Amino acid sequence: MSLRRLPKATINRIAAGEVVERPASAVKELVENALDAGAGQVDIVMADGGRRLIAVSDDGAGMTADELALCIERHATSKLPDDDLLDIKWLGFRGEALPSIAAVSRLALTSRVRGAEAAWRLEVEAGAASGPMPAAHPPGTRVEVRDLFFSTPARLKFLKTARTELNHAIDTVRRLAMAHPDVGFQLRQDERRVLDLPAVPGDLFPARLERLAAVLGREFAENALAIEAEREGLALTGYAGLPTYSRGNAGQQYLFVNGRAVRDRLLVGAVRAAYSDVLARDRHPVVALFVRLAPELVDVNVHPAKAEVRFRDPGLVRGLIVSALRHALAEAGHRASGTVSTAALGAFRPEGTALPTWPRGGGGGAPRGLAEAAAAYQAPYAAADRLAGTTAPGARVQATPADDPGEHPLGAARAQLHETYIIAESRDGLIVVDQHAAHERIVMERMKAELGAGGVAGQLLLLPEVVELDEASVSRLAARAGELAELGLGLEAFGAGAVVVREVPALLGQTDVPGLVRDLAVELAEWDQALGLRERLDDVAASMACHASVRAGRRLDIAEMNALLRDMERTPNAGQCNHGRPTYVALKLADIERLFGRR
Ligand SMILES: Nc1ncnc2c1ncn2[C@@H]1O[C@H](COP(=O)(O)OP(=O)(O)OP(=O)(O)O)[C@@H](O)[C@H]1O
Ligand SMILES: [Mg+2]
Repeated sequence: MSLRRLPKATINRIAAGEVVERPASAVKELVENALDAGAGQVDIVMADGGRRLIAVSDDGAGMTADELALCIERHATSKLPDDDLLDIKWLGFRGEALPSIAAVSRLALTSRVRGAEAAWRLEVEAGAASGPMPAAHPPGTRVEVRDLFFSTPARLKFLKTARTELNHAIDTVRRLAMAHPDVGFQLRQDERRVLDLPAVPGDLFPARLERLAAVLGREFAENALAIEAEREGLALTGYAGLPTYSRGNAGQQYLFVNGRAVRDRLLVGAVRAAYSDVLARDRHPVVALFVRLAPELVDVNVHPAKAEVRFRDPGLVRGLIVSALRHALAEAGHRASGTVSTAALGAFRPEGTALPTWPRGGGGGAPRGLAEAAAAYQAPYAAADRLAGTTAPGARVQATPADDPGEHPLGAARAQLHETYIIAESRDGLIVVDQHAAHERIVMERMKAELGAGGVAGQLLLLPEVVELDEASVSRLAARAGELAELGLGLEAFGAGAVVVREVPALLGQTDVPGLVRDLAVELAEWDQALGLRERLDDVAASMACHASVRAGRRLDIAEMNALLRDMERTPNAGQCNHGRPTYVALKLADIERLFGRR
């Protein structure tokens, strides 16, 4: 074994191993170069998932013949004019992407500088260059990568199907496009346009929202809160999805630092923390957040593909994200996802061609969805007919013409259905509240507020209640007695097989004490020992709320229902229960009219 310097081609191939993992990574590098060159439009063409061809064309600044010859040299870059790694203003700075790609493919670059007469072309095969030679090309640059990984069969073997590789490339371009709404992007594969995002001119904020809507769908734009916060030179902007618009995985969290798409654990953790009160652990919010800070406050030179960054002051970044998102979510208050009510409305809507048979009353009968809808609507009316004293089965209706629905966002309570849902009339529509979910949310927010003010107020029981339990549950509850007392639940072990409860949280009102204690014991067994109950407050509150009086399956009178609605309006985050399910849906009159074909 003798020590020696590696040949250039081998060095570049090693570098390529880090930078170019798959076709999508080459796409990322080439598109970033186009953006750095000030392109207004970037067109990408792929064949066979990028294996056969990746071509990226831009209308940016272009390169001279000399620059063309130099740009494929390792460590040749125009982006570190002062050699200052603390002052990185472009997406690139390593001078490694093109030589790395050139080392593992057949590369051709054609470019014309803006305002220049002629274009030039350079071809590189397995690291050996020919040219530059004169060529025909409009101002801008076109980079063609053919037969990616032909010289590294091992890497080639790891590529997935063309469809999968294409999808990775699409994801890459979408991320880049979110951060650059003023640039148009097009991606074609085999003559098929798979992504088309026209440039959005104008002010950044509206342009960005429009671009996000184009990339993530209109629904996101309609279900997202605008975020804008600043602290000590650190700016956070973007959009955060409502909890009711959450997803089963974290794949739709788009995070950017100084215009660079990053996958950063600190940022992901901050987003998770911000939503922890309003989302269950297995639900994930959809967000597009843009962090901007002075280049010297963040190190982007920590990852070969620049997918990770390191902040000088991580605590500041985390704090700003958590507080800005929490604030926005609390401000949004009782706003639930509009998509939920759209879906609900869809369920009411008769499907397709079956409709005409029904209104004529003939033959086939109503299609299923419609029949259900009709039944749901008929119930309260049937009940109203019998209003004089008797209680309708499954529905309670009280007409109280005196209260004016207009004053309150959640309107005036009119009926309770199935002992679970409150129907309220608002100024411009109809509100359906899940009373259990709503109450859970209110309990949770009150507990949070009281905890913040020192501790949850307890209500002494006139007669202490002894609850019999298995031994393990008793010791588990006893071990948490101090924490439970802070939450307003005073209990202690009562021999080996029971606890005695002396105090329950006052805000619960009348409570089924044995049920509450038994449920808590079961849940304590499941929860992580290391986590304090404050950290599990959402779960604790949810399980306590279950045993309070206002829950599914209890009849409420109009006054109680209205009290609940007013409570919801006052409560931060009231649009969803502790687990991100909506607590109510609103149907606009216009939607209802559409339902009946009046519009
Ligand atoms: N599309 C383009 N238009 C104009 N100039 C380009 C283009 N692509 C590359 N260049 C020039 O070639 C140089 C080398 O590109 P390369 O991607 O290899 O390195 P870089 O962008 O400087 O840094 P990094 O390796 O971090 O991407 C760039 O600095 C730039 O001057
Ligand atoms: Mg580059």
